[in-house]
Amino acid sequence: MRPPIDSGTVLITGASSGIGRELARQLARRARTLVLVARREERLEALRDELHARNPTLGILVERCDLVHPDEVDSLLDSLYRHLVRVDVLVNNAGLGDYSLYEQESWSRIHQMLQVNVTAPLLLTHRLLRLMVERKRGGILNISCGGARAFVPGLAVYSATKHFLDGFTESLRLELRGTGVVVTQVAPGPVDTEFSEVAGTGERAGRVPAWMRISPAQCAREAIEGFDRAQPLVYPGFAYRWMMRLSSLMPRGMHRAAGLPGARKLRYGTSLLEPAHPDTGRRVLLAGEPEGA
Ligand SMILES: NC(=O)c1ccc[n+]([C@@H]2O[C@H](COP(=O)([O-])OP(=O)(O)OC[C@H]3O[C@@H](n4cnc5c(N)ncnc54)[C@H](OP(=O)(O)O)[C@@H]3O)[C@@H](O)[C@H]2O)c1
Repeated sequence: MRPPIDSGTVLITGASSGIGRELARQLARRARTLVLVARREERLEALRDELHARNPTLGILVERCDLVHPDEVDSLLDSLYRHLVRVDVLVNNAGLGDYSLYEQESWSRIHQMLQVNVTAPLLLTHRLLRLMVERKRGGILNISCGGARAFVPGLAVYSATKHFLDGFTESLRLELRGTGVVVTQVAPGPVDTEFSEVAGTGERAGRVPAWMRISPAQCAREAIEGFDRAQPLVYPGFAYRWMMRLSSLMPRGMHRAAGLPGARKLRYGTSLLEPAHPDTGRRVLLAGEPEGA
C-alpha cells in the first residue's frame, strides 16, 4: 500500500525552509496540488513561483498560518473546505527547538514548542483523518527526530515533544492498519537547515561530525522513499541510520550515561568533572547521579 501522493493533494507544514521546502520540491513532481503552510508568506510565494515554473500544471495554495494558534489552524482548514480542497496526504513537518537549561527557558518559548511540535500535528491530523478513513485512502508523514529515541540535555522540551510524536505516530499507525491510510515517522539526525540557528544550538551543543550530517534534499528523498514503502520509521542518512539501529539495542542506563557529558558541559562548562563545591571541596553531583559515578 502506498500513500496517495501521485495526483493527490498534499499539505506540508513548515514549507518555507529546510526539510519542508525540499519535501515540497520533490513532491511537486508527483502531486496534483500542494498546500504550503508556514508563517513567512514571502518565502512560500517564492517557492510557489519556483515550483510553478518547473511544474506548470501543479496547483499550489499558499497558506500563511502561525501554528502556535489553534484558531489559525482552524481558519486554514475552513479556507481549504471553502475552496473544496480535500487533503490526501498530510505532512506534519514544522517544528522548532530551543537549546537551554530547562529552568532558564522562557515559558513562551516552551509554549511555542508544545503548540507547533505537538498540538498542531494533533489538531491537523484530527481534522483531516476522518475523511481519509472514510475514503479508505490517505497518508500522514510525521517528521520527528532522533531525539525522540534519546535523552537530550539542553533540549529537554524539544526532545519530549518528539518522544510524544513518536508514541503518537506508532500508536496511530496500529489503529489505522487495514484502513488504507499510511502512517510513517521520519526521525532525522543532523540536517543542514535553519533548525540549529532557530534553536540556538550551534557550537554550544558540540560539533556534529560531518559524516552524520545530511542535506535537506537527501532527508526529503529518503523520507518520501520510506513513506512510499509504508515504512513505520525512517532514519535518513546511511551512517546515522546504523548509529540509531545500534543505539536502539542499548539499555536505558547507557542512554542516560551517553547524555551525561553534554549535561555537565551545559551546566558546569566542563564535560568531565564538575567544579569542586566551594565549602566542602567535593564535586557537585547532578540530581539523581549516584555518588562516585
Ligand atoms: N535540521 C535538523 O537537524 C533536524 C533534525 C531532526 C529533526 N528535525 C525536524 O525537522 C522538521 C523541519 O525542521 P528543519 O530542520 O527543516 O528546520 P527549519 O529550516 O528551521 O524549518 C522549520 C519550519 O517550521 C516552520 N515553523 C516554525 N514555527 C512555526 C509556526 N509557529 N507556525 C508555522 N510554521 C512554523 C518554519 O516556518 P516559518 O518560520 O516561516 O513559520 C519552517 O518552515 C522539524 O520538525 C524538526 O524538528 C530537524
